[in-house]
Amino acid sequence: MARGRSSLNSGGKQKEELPKAKINRQTLKNISRLLSYLRPYRSKFIFAMFFLFLSSLVGLAFPSFIGGLIDAAQGKQTTKFLPATIQGIGLLALIVLFAQGFVSFFRILWFVQVAERSLADIRRDTYFKLITLPMNFFSNRRVGELNSRISADLSQIQDTLTTTLAEMIRQMVLLVGGIAFLAIISGKLTLSLLAVLPILIVIAIFFGRFIRKISRKAQDRLAESNTIVEETLQGIANVKAFVNESFEAGRYSRNIKDVANIAITGAKYRGLFASFIVFGMFGAIVTVVAYGCLLVSHHELTVGELFKFALYAAFVGSAMGSFPEMYANVQRAVGASERVLEILGEEGEKVSILETENDIKQKIDGNLAFDNVNFHYPSRPEIEVLKGISFEAKTGQKVAIVGPSGSGKSTMASLILQFYQPQSGTILYDSKPADVYSLTDIRNQVAIVPQDVLLFGGSIRENIAYGKLKATEEEIEVAAKRANAHQFIMSFPEGYDTIVGERGVKLSGGQRQRIAIARALLKNPSILILDEATSSLDSESERLVQEALEELMKNRTSIIIAHRLSTIREADNIIVLEKGKVIESGNHEELLGNENGLYRYLSQLQFEV
Ligand SMILES: Nc1ncnc2c1ncn2[C@@H]1O[C@H](COP(=O)(O)OP(=O)(O)OP(=O)(O)O)[C@@H](O)[C@H]1O
Ligand SMILES: [Mg+2]
Repeated sequence: MARGRSSLNSGGKQKEELPKAKINRQTLKNISRLLSYLRPYRSKFIFAMFFLFLSSLVGLAFPSFIGGLIDAAQGKQTTKFLPATIQGIGLLALIVLFAQGFVSFFRILWFVQVAERSLADIRRDTYFKLITLPMNFFSNRRVGELNSRISADLSQIQDTLTTTLAEMIRQMVLLVGGIAFLAIISGKLTLSLLAVLPILIVIAIFFGRFIRKISRKAQDRLAESNTIVEETLQGIANVKAFVNESFEAGRYSRNIKDVANIAITGAKYRGLFASFIVFGMFGAIVTVVAYGCLLVSHHELTVGELFKFALYAAFVGSAMGSFPEMYANVQRAVGASERVLEILGEEGEKVSILETENDIKQKIDGNLAFDNVNFHYPSRPEIEVLKGISFEAKTGQKVAIVGPSGSGKSTMASLILQFYQPQSGTILYDSKPADVYSLTDIRNQVAIVPQDVLLFGGSIRENIAYGKLKATEEEIEVAAKRANAHQFIMSFPEGYDTIVGERGVKLSGGQRQRIAIARALLKNPSILILDEATSSLDSESERLVQEALEELMKNRTSIIIAHRLSTIREADNIIVLEKGKVIESGNHEELLGNENGLYRYLSQLQFEV
């Protein structure tokens, strides 16, 4: 069981905080590249921005209305722009409210429309890019990580576009406008407020951050303990077989105790924080208001003005308080955009994602040849996997590749499928080098029944139809019959609609293989690659699979990677591979004739058993 490193993709189900990025010129440049996705929707975006600005401005009017109302109730008029009567002010306020409701509706709708559509564009492009990236890209990355770019990173960008951006502009207007109004109402009071407010806010922010750090630590530990639960339950057979229940129980309870301790430490600070808020924040408010009342009693200020002042002060305070979190959000979005852009910037394979361009343009009859092919995986340049491989499979022939584990057989299959390019040498299809053909043409005419068949989570029908998306019901059934799969499929109550379970876990190995064979039959390729599974099937399902394979190999070039030598006696040519080199080749009889040959040795081993 792999431990420890999986806390990210298993235990960490709760919303993770994405790492923040520094904001500098380069990152701004990157951002502007992503913002280009807004371009098709720019007029709506600009209108939304304008409406946002407008509604924030109008929002600033409310404290004035309330203050005006209070003053009017006492028979005073303090604001020149407002009507003198209560009715007048009330009516005006209602009209403005209505207008603001109208504007707010459209600004929210438009913002979300723009953000969702452009996000959908970015998501689509990222996904398209991901699935067309070369195999090598995937061998260096974890699937969980890539998945999180499409989900978490893009959600972060979305959040920032739909909410944070708008909120930032709104708070900015409220802050600047609020301070201006405060100053108009009372310079003295404003100065006293600005003297205490920022200090309190800074303290509150640092405190808040500290507390969040502690609670994140508790969350991480909790995630860790969830990982323990997940792993032990998944590997429950291992736990029981090794009688390690007490070990796991101890590990888990230690972890849980830590979680509790950290949470309790956090609670201490949270309590302190609450006391600080009560004393500091409310204390400051009381002080400022008391000072304001003093001004009222000296007739320097009306009650309405004091009320207005308090409301504006609340605006300003909450605006100041919200900036750090918004800034952190923007930083996270910047980091997320960089990671997404990194994928968008990768060089993809030249395959089309348009269905119409998937038709075969250059037909391949089935002649396949390797000419002095040398290859190492780009991720492991120091290990030469294939060394000077040459062979030819004429149209319709069966060529077998045998050799010890790790000798490079599956790698050859990957090269035939053009998953990787050899560093030197050429692979020829119908005597023409690979680069004459489009990738789509080659892959459309080569089919593989892989070593470990991996099915998609849908129904059996969908899984077979993966070989030819437009296949009719009848074609699917014919393929299944020829692959010896029809019978077992019909034995399930739901027949072809049976859901195979995640990765096909609900089917046995032999059943999965026959589905893969049916899939390959539907595709009807010119060149077929069979990468024989190492795990042995029982003799009955082996016979069924073998029959299905014979059916599949008819009338096409077949490359058979075989572990059981009994399956390849009929092959036209057998290539014996060792450590990436062809050490022998010939048909079964010829190779058996080679006294010191590896093939003879291997077959003696197998047939003696
Ligand atoms: N994606 C990869 N990146 C780097 N090295 C790889 C990769 N896949 C395989 N290798 C290495 O290439 C070598 C050949 O592997 P390959 O899978 O071709 O062996 P094989 O002959 O198919 O073995 P088996 O009979 O066990 O299936 C091995 O040393 C393996 O470690
Ligand atoms: Mg292999």
